[in-house]
Amino acid sequence: MHARMFASLAAPLALTGLLAWETVAFVAPSAVVGVNGKVSFNRDVRPLLASNCFQCHGPDAGAREASLRFDTHEGLFADLGGVPLIDPRNPENSELFYRITAEHGSDRMPPADSGLALSSAQIETIA
Ligand code: HEC
Repeated sequence: MHARMFASLAAPLALTGLLAWETVAFVAPSAVVGVNGKVSFNRDVRPLLASNCFQCHGPDAGAREASLRFDTHEGLFADLGGVPLIDPRNPENSELFYRITAEHGSDRMPPADSGLALSSAQIETIA
């Protein structure tokens, strides 16, 4: 259901960050420094997730919401019961991309009442 909504929302986005998701490698950050000005996961995307998402989806199990964590490779590529959190080859199918672009208030991440927000430029970097 979300995936279909995301497909229409995704169209205006540049999807420049897409390639970066295929190079996610927490073990060897130096291997994924951006080449040719492309978005790098570790340099560009991860810090945005760290400051906007880790508070509720990070290393602190006690504060973790929805059993989601974005600070590990396993966590990022979790299967949410049929819908992948991230699907680099098929982004419109990714719950994460849907959530950061959702116009419906209660689906939007980070939640409005958290005081956190991604700018449209930051959303483009991630997506
Ligand atoms: C202040 C806490 C908080 C922050 C910060 C936050 N989230 Fe969430 N997130 C939640 C809660 C609570 C839920 C469960 C309720 C829901 O599904 O909306 C959730 C659910 C989700 C889900 C859906 C999981 C599923 O099983 O469908 C995704 C994807 C998600 N968040 C992504 C993000 C991303 C990406 C960010 C950062 C840009 C983020 N969240 C930041 C609290 C947070």
